[in-house]
Amino acid sequence: MANPMQHNAAPARPSAVPKHVAIIMDGNGRWAAARGLPRLVGHREGAKAVRRSIEAAIGQGVKYLTLFAFSSENWQRPQEEVSDLRGLLLQYLRSELQELHEVGVRLRVIGEHTRFGPNVVAELEAAEAKTARNEKLTLLLALSYGGRADIVAAAQRAIAEGIAPEALTEQKFASYLTTAGVPDPDLLIRTSGEQRISNFLLWQTAYAELVFTDVLWPDFGEKDFAAAIGKFTKRERRFGARPE
Ligand code: FPP
Repeated sequence: MANPMQHNAAPARPSAVPKHVAIIMDGNGRWAAARGLPRLVGHREGAKAVRRSIEAAIGQGVKYLTLFAFSSENWQRPQEEVSDLRGLLLQYLRSELQELHEVGVRLRVIGEHTRFGPNVVAELEAAEAKTARNEKLTLLLALSYGGRADIVAAAQRAIAEGIAPEALTEQKFASYLTTAGVPDPDLLIRTSGEQRISNFLLWQTAYAELVFTDVLWPDFGEKDFAAAIGKFTKRERRFGARPE
């Protein structure tokens, strides 16, 4: 007789390395505060952690890495901090782009990045164009990004195109999102102990595995990235279906 417990007792099918990892980089401010340093120093250290994560992603064979660098809500921070973050972004592009290009990173920006002004837009677009043919890793930088705004903008584009309601399938809808053509994240990591999505990739993370770590973003390194991937690979992903 078949064992009625078989479904539950079946060994977990380990998942392969995630194709797309998304990260909510959190804790720069607390990292700085713990050291009595200005927040800007925390963000600077955070930029170093960005580099380590890109290296780790490439090393692990991840193909897409999305980093939440600036949310729609971050505009509400003091003007000085917004300006610091904008400056850091430009500095980052200027100092890292060539190397990113050489190792095969393709840069893609998601979000309402035009709010950063024409200079930033010009540099971001030049960086996207320069790296457009790279295939090792696609780095999606979420800048002035909000998940709800992404969904509303997608709906607006679909309506403006005059799409027939019955033609608007989930797959079709996804093609209007800013992440069009990018597979959904398999793994979402958030640092600093917070356990929230915070209006990040709301549509796209429908089936993502969530990994939360207490490590503050400036301390996040290759080992932490590998540990998150390790947790992911031990999970059994069912996408809402029953196990076989
Ligand atoms: C969250 O820490 C981090 C941010 C709002 C910005 C992320 C920016 C970086 C990692 C540096 C620059 C990035 C690039 C791509 C060059 P928080 O300030 O919310 O920290 P807190 O919650 O401890 O205050």
